[in-house]
Amino acid sequence: MSNSIQSVLVETRVFPPPEGFVKQANISGQAAYQALLDESDRDPNGFWGRLAKENLHWTKPFTQVLDESNAPFYKWFGDGELNVSANCLEANIERGLGDKVAIIFEADGGEVTKVTYHELYERVCQMANGLKSLGYKTGDRAIIYLPMSIEAVAAMQACARLGIIHSVVFGGFSSKALHERIIDVGASLVITADEQVRGGKQIPLKPAVDEAFGMGGCDIVRHCLVYKRTGGSVAWDDKRDMWLHDLVKDQPKTCEAVPVNAEHPLFILYTSGSTGKPKGVQHSSGGYLLWAKLTMQWTFDAKPDDVFWCTADVGWVTGHTYITYGPLANGMTQIVFEGVPTYPNAGRFWEMIQRHHVSIFYTAPTAIRSLIKASEANAAVHPKSFDLSSLRLLGSVGEPINPEAWMWYHINVGQERCPIVDTWWQTETGGHMITPLPGVTPLKPGSCTTRLPGITAAIVDETGGDVEAGQGGFLVIKRPWPSMIRTIWGDPERFKTSYFPEELRGYYLAGDGAQCDADNCFWIMGRIDDVLNVSGHRLGTMEVESALVAHELVAEAAVVGRPDATTGEAVVAFVVLKRATPDGDEAVAIAKQLRDWISKEIGPIAKPKEIRFGDNLPKTRSGKIMRRLLRVVAKGEEVTQDVSTLENPAILDQLTKPV
Ligand code: WT7
Repeated sequence: MSNSIQSVLVETRVFPPPEGFVKQANISGQAAYQALLDESDRDPNGFWGRLAKENLHWTKPFTQVLDESNAPFYKWFGDGELNVSANCLEANIERGLGDKVAIIFEADGGEVTKVTYHELYERVCQMANGLKSLGYKTGDRAIIYLPMSIEAVAAMQACARLGIIHSVVFGGFSSKALHERIIDVGASLVITADEQVRGGKQIPLKPAVDEAFGMGGCDIVRHCLVYKRTGGSVAWDDKRDMWLHDLVKDQPKTCEAVPVNAEHPLFILYTSGSTGKPKGVQHSSGGYLLWAKLTMQWTFDAKPDDVFWCTADVGWVTGHTYITYGPLANGMTQIVFEGVPTYPNAGRFWEMIQRHHVSIFYTAPTAIRSLIKASEANAAVHPKSFDLSSLRLLGSVGEPINPEAWMWYHINVGQERCPIVDTWWQTETGGHMITPLPGVTPLKPGSCTTRLPGITAAIVDETGGDVEAGQGGFLVIKRPWPSMIRTIWGDPERFKTSYFPEELRGYYLAGDGAQCDADNCFWIMGRIDDVLNVSGHRLGTMEVESALVAHELVAEAAVVGRPDATTGEAVVAFVVLKRATPDGDEAVAIAKQLRDWISKEIGPIAKPKEIRFGDNLPKTRSGKIMRRLLRVVAKGEEVTQDVSTLENPAILDQLTKPV
């Protein structure tokens, strides 16, 4: 197993669920959880079939729960039909929630806009009718490159209403990344905005789309719809570009939802893998929605009076499942936030919880860590300076939360009364997999605790054999589940080899190393492949290396992760130039040039925190780069490992020197 895996923390604190919470919980007490686990283990198909019937509106009921005939290309509810958007909108209006607030939108500058379920329904219908009027239909692919907004949620829902497959590209990604995704997904439509606003700054979006178009190969894109967010000036192509408000303004406010097969792709979302270009993770309609809806009820204990706030961006899977689909499928009121946690100051989250009476708050460890720092420096932005009494449940996602950050979150935000659900899952899993249930599970800081009912998570060795409690191994899911990835768009072979390697007996390989303790609690130790986790976002080391090598000065590059107090992991790049190795001011200048380059090629999240130059990289005699050594060097530690297979040991000295 890879050396990147750190040993598990020794953590002995246990926090049982508060009695008051247990009493009112959707899944209340150990026995209720055990009953669901037993049901799912005894008769998985019966279990999933029952839940799918009880929780979703089917326009054509399914007769088969799981089709395993072409494993690992599983089909769930494969002869059933439904519409995801109708399950999120009409379903709630029909049960009397039309006037309930669906979204409370808070803009970067603080302006608040609310829409009810009925209003959201009308907006989605108008947008869908607009798309229809342009000839878009079931199976077409749309790229959505929008800031956090009601429009972003509505655009995704409008696509879902017509069976158009959306692929959301995070607004922080560069034109290059956007271009790659437009081509790979074969998009005929792009929906964007003139600009986005973050932390008081206006950041162009439409120009990045224009740049992507300019890179060529985008001829199949027939329209670019532009949401006017700021009114900033934009270039215009009359044949292709169209203001979103012009398109929707005279459209009818009802639009019949198109029933699609349960297996129809709802969306494709790109994520980093260990090698090569990002993978287009394809999700289904029926199975995905089922889990988005259920995990809201189970993990987040969703109740009619809750105000739910997931701080993720819809550009990530968390924003898909726990903003656009899960909360709406449950008829909840939720916050959609445009801005950043530190603007106008680091008290923004707490102030918003207070202002909107948020009861369930879901964020990432990296945000928590940065706010700890800020509130230690300034009492005015400390959570204790705000009224957080509306909170009843907290969540964490994206990376392991270190026990100290967990304790701070628990004491200062949760006031020692709110359970914390540390949810382990991935873009590929569609929804939560391993997580505490707030009315059931004793919490251990740093552990995502136990598997959800129906999810057969386990730790195995390299042959797929179970390992004993306390032993590290590969995290796998033994049986398929409804919200699992269906394939990698356009690359079924890569889907098979990445996630279902032969030696693992058909289990789904998550790519994380983990171990399980004697209470069946999981402890995630890190990725087993060359994937970094920076601020809860996945980055392939290969992706960053390829971008570096694409720069005219660079001959060779190796990228590794280094533990970072704020971002979890930081990118460190070791670079060999085509010219003489620079030092002093020149090295500083070239390092800056390369960092800006990465920002442009991939996006600011991929910017190396540090770049070091050398005449060569440490390689084995067969020419393989020895990353484990680079990881040690990046941490500033002394190399004590065996370097006998190293071709050029002297190179390590050179690489230990920061620029
Ligand atoms: C990878 C998936 C799930 C949505 C956001 C990230 C890491 C995620 C946890 C957690 C420990 C976690 C894993 C996983 N991860 N949540 N609660 N504890 N690690 O989605 O970009 O697909 O990344 O994030 O390494 O494999 P993603």
